[in-house]
Amino acid sequence: TYEGDLAPRAPVVTVMGHVDHGKTSLLDYIRKTRVTAGESGGITQHIGAYHVESSRGMITFLDTPGHAAFTAMRARGAKSTDVVILVVAADDGVMPQTLEAIQHAKAAGVPLVVAINKIDKETADPDRVTNELSQHDVIPEAWGGDTQFIQVSAHSGQGIDELLEAISLQAELLELTAHHDGPGKGVVIESSLDKGRGAVATVLVQSGRLKKGDVVLAGAHFGRVRALLDENAKPIDEAGPSIPVEILGLNGTPEAGDELVVAENERAAREVAELRSSRSKDALQAQQQA
Ligand code: GTP
Ligand code: NA
Ligand code: MG
Repeated sequence: TYEGDLAPRAPVVTVMGHVDHGKTSLLDYIRKTRVTAGESGGITQHIGAYHVESSRGMITFLDTPGHAAFTAMRARGAKSTDVVILVVAADDGVMPQTLEAIQHAKAAGVPLVVAINKIDKETADPDRVTNELSQHDVIPEAWGGDTQFIQVSAHSGQGIDELLEAISLQAELLELTAHHDGPGKGVVIESSLDKGRGAVATVLVQSGRLKKGDVVLAGAHFGRVRALLDENAKPIDEAGPSIPVEILGLNGTPEAGDELVVAENERAAREVAELRSSRSKDALQAQQQA
């Protein structure tokens, strides 16, 4: 294990909540982008990973889908994070995936910040949302609880500075640190096979520096990092803690949640990858025979 000095790192914040409550829109506002507009059917189907420089320092966001089908993705999102933003639409209130998100955050032991969104709507009823959440043990400080509730609008931008401040405060309490040098280590957020580029993995670097040219091992796959891309698909040479990157060069698609480490050399990486892949094949066979 690497024994360098620990230094502060940026918080990783996962945005969760019921479908269409405005998770992606909130991040669009914060990032000045229009990701929502490009989504098929207006439904998020992947975990998006972004980092922003705010006036209170860097924050990394993971955007999760709210659709009922994506439970596993939400559970993984909650596990690789420091803080969860629970987005609840003020005109809709607490819904099934709101409750699911609360469960994931609790299971992962991650603190929540509540964003009551769509406060600009005439039908917005933030008091109702607060009541409903309190019935599920998510209680605002004003009512003797320990959760920050912020009223926001992803359309007008109302409350978003306050939300960023609440996240930073919550993160400061956690005193997050990481090794900023030494070999890179991270977690696979998702991966897919791209026609032109081969295996593409989105990786959140958690410690050290991940560099172009590194030999990496992730789950049952390995390879030399042929290209390292930032979240805007711009090629970069290296990335440090809390930075999400896409890597090209793996010989297959690791599972979301797999740890990614830098290996000594390709031979060592291949050995471990092959061992893992034959083990998982054996396990599958045993399962099928049972
Ligand atoms: P999934 O990822 O599919 O779960 O949805 P989401 O939570 O990311 O919601 P999304 O950002 O796609 O927004 C859903 C709809 O609500 C869109 O039509 C947005 O324009 C609208 N919306 C989001 N935030 C606000 C807001 O603050 N005010 C108003 N009036 N509409 C909003
Ligand atoms: Na949506
Ligand atoms: Mg979305």
